[in-house]
Amino acid sequence: MFLKRLECSACGLEHEWSRLQNLCHSCNKPLFAIVDLAAASGTLTRDTLLARGRSLWRYREVLPLPSDVEPVSLGEGGTPLLRASKFADDVELWIKDESLNPTQSFKARGMSVAVSMARHLGATKFAAPSAGNAGGALAAYAARAGVEAHIFMPRDTPRANVVECRELGAHVTLIEGLITDCGAEIARRRENEGWFDMSTLKEPYRVEGKKTLGYELAEQLNWQLPDVILYPAGGGTGLIGMWKAFDEMEALGWIGKDRPRMFAVQAAGCAPIVRAFEAGEKSAAEFPNANTMASGLRVPKAIGDFLMLKIIRESDGGAIAVDDEQMIRVTPEVGGKEGLFICPEGAACFAALKLLRSANKIASGERVVIFNTGSGIKYLEAYDRVSAG
Ligand SMILES: Cc1ncc(COP(=O)(O)O)c(C=O)c1O
Ligand SMILES: [Zn+2]
Repeated sequence: MFLKRLECSACGLEHEWSRLQNLCHSCNKPLFAIVDLAAASGTLTRDTLLARGRSLWRYREVLPLPSDVEPVSLGEGGTPLLRASKFADDVELWIKDESLNPTQSFKARGMSVAVSMARHLGATKFAAPSAGNAGGALAAYAARAGVEAHIFMPRDTPRANVVECRELGAHVTLIEGLITDCGAEIARRRENEGWFDMSTLKEPYRVEGKKTLGYELAEQLNWQLPDVILYPAGGGTGLIGMWKAFDEMEALGWIGKDRPRMFAVQAAGCAPIVRAFEAGEKSAAEFPNANTMASGLRVPKAIGDFLMLKIIRESDGGAIAVDDEQMIRVTPEVGGKEGLFICPEGAACFAALKLLRSANKIASGERVVIFNTGSGIKYLEAYDRVSAG
């Protein structure tokens, strides 16, 4: 293993990786894993990757977990990057289809790595707040690891997510409120209950799993990053993870200095990052009365807000809000043209592409990647309500 230490993403304070850690002991911000990339490059090269299996553990040297410890895996990662020329013929559009992961969403990436590492460090009971998909993924990986999962979700979370968690053996609590209320409930009880808090960015390794989105994307595009990335941002873990991956790959000598323009796509009913971006703020205030059918985007306050805002500004990208109506309209268009039943969060990115093209923020011919972060099949009640009128 080439993990050297954990470092606070805000104040830089070092933390040991060898025990269970949540936030920075000094400033309560997220911790990042620092990998010895020079050492990792001894066995991990662009060429050695060619002979490896498809799961995200093919990037093992840049992931945490001692090399003699078996990861908790269900075959996550290695998802297709599909050209989508019918939906958009004036840009070079690609879809990274994350619905093919275990439990049908990209949340599997983070949970495989985080559960592997937390189990290795001795955690026996995990707790997480979830908009839905993270809960399903945690339930699956906890079951596989033989540890308990305690999942707190808003009462109006899509039914498929709730049923899935239960069938995977998790303890499920439905809360009257939002994901932030679920997180607060865990924070209140975790010490008494002996839970390890797996909230995204409140432990250091879900973002490590998510960073493999960036590694895979570069590899699939033959080490040429796209011009633009459209990412449906709730907690923002994938956006933050990809940005970390790009820096690591540059240090490894795999890519150059150029970066995609990163866009955080949010729902108009819950757009704290868009508001903060437009107001020129460095962090985002809690978004009041959060409401959207894209449950993964119903995150009124994210602990990684300052990181998202930094990345979208540094990359010369932006933040854009899409209303539910636009997501609903674009879903069958993508379905009919490209053959994918996308989730509302993914749909938000397709709608955002149209808006950004009309505003000329994406130029004709540019290479654009959209992350379809999950499957539409988990949102039947939302889509059904619409088609039933
Ligand atoms: C399908 C889907 N897309 C996007 C998101 C937002 O993910 P992130 O926390 O990485 O911003 C979620 C989170 O629940 C989700 O379930
Ligand atoms: Zn700190």
